[in-house]
Amino acid sequence: MTDYKVKDIGLAEEGRMLIEYAEKNMPVLMHLREKYSKTQPLKGMRITGCLHVTKETAVLVETLRAAGAEVAWSGCNPLSTNDKVAAALAANDVSVFAWHGLDTEEYYWCIEQTLKIKPTLTLDDGADLIFTLHQKHEELIPNLYGGSEETTTGVIRVRAMADDGKLKYPIMAVNDADTKHLFDNVYGTGQSAFDGVLRATDMLIAGKTVVIGGYGYCGRGMAVRAKGLGADVVVTEVDPVRGLQARMDGYQVMKMDDAAAIGDLFLTATGMKDIVTGAHMKKMKTGAVLGNLGHYNVEINEPDLMALSKSKTRIRHALDEYETKDGRFIYLIGEGRLVNLAAASGHPSSVMDLSFASQFNAMIWMAKNGKGLKPAVYEFPKELDRETALMKLQTMGIDIDEWTEEQKRYATAYAEGT
Ligand code: ADE
Repeated sequence: MTDYKVKDIGLAEEGRMLIEYAEKNMPVLMHLREKYSKTQPLKGMRITGCLHVTKETAVLVETLRAAGAEVAWSGCNPLSTNDKVAAALAANDVSVFAWHGLDTEEYYWCIEQTLKIKPTLTLDDGADLIFTLHQKHEELIPNLYGGSEETTTGVIRVRAMADDGKLKYPIMAVNDADTKHLFDNVYGTGQSAFDGVLRATDMLIAGKTVVIGGYGYCGRGMAVRAKGLGADVVVTEVDPVRGLQARMDGYQVMKMDDAAAIGDLFLTATGMKDIVTGAHMKKMKTGAVLGNLGHYNVEINEPDLMALSKSKTRIRHALDEYETKDGRFIYLIGEGRLVNLAAASGHPSSVMDLSFASQFNAMIWMAKNGKGLKPAVYEFPKELDRETALMKLQTMGIDIDEWTEEQKRYATAYAEGT
């Protein structure tokens, strides 16, 4: 019998309906499932995954299994597991250890359970699994062909490990695939951030000042959606190029110290701690709403908010109201964890189709090429990006042009000028 721990296995039927709904909106991944269930390129592979347990992730998990892999899974955030989906996976013999609302000790316990299969491949979002393996299970590292990392924060963390000479097996930076960060981070976060904000608060965005901390791909996605909803958008940055881009994209750019006093809604996506601190909170208007879209709950300093407050009340799902000692009300969504997953259902399936097609391809690539590679962070192969994008276009009924033979010749004909 498969080992698992989920909130309630009785939720499996509802979870299965969610997964089947996601499958219908993930045509690229489903195409890969059909193709590779015949050739079984992951046969003999044991994959330990640590990534938000959502309906989209379930489609990925079941595609990995269809391609021959044995899979064990945990969530990568205490508030992002969909308990119905976790139950459906467990009922389908997946070794899944995840439930919504687990604490830190339980979180790492879940990761430990998934390592019992002695993985040959790892699939991570945030690098907690990679780090746990290095810190506590060095004995498992010789089995590993390689791994992949899904998110900006995780790739930064793994690159820091590699720079420090500490990384012990090869990792593919799936986040850096064009078919990941140009779509998931921009359109996925852009939309699902507001899905989370609206489900948690019901607030009207039109006429408000929305402060976006960080103008990376996620920040850009959120800024354009905020503008589309009728907000004045303010961007804060530390990178002068990104700050300049934000200004020329039409947003106000200023220090968080100045933005603090005028913002109605603050959304962070920087990968850095202390973007919004007590010093900023002291200046905020009553009614200010705070939410984070970065991987870890360190961007908005919640202990600072608590220290400024005389009370904290959970007033509805994923929304805490803090009454400050000077009589203002400040609201924090999802305990400062990923707004889109803590308060809503994460990115839509059709954008996760791209991210997870790339994750799936990364697993196949590592199974084939990983053994013998030196421990380093590997770039996602460009040809796989192009294949995935082309397939997605085809599923959308879109044809694009191809160069003629003459154009191909021109592209390399450096002697031809004016
Ligand atoms: N990250 C953001 N949205 C997600 C989703 N729907 N599933 C898995 N990971 C996600």
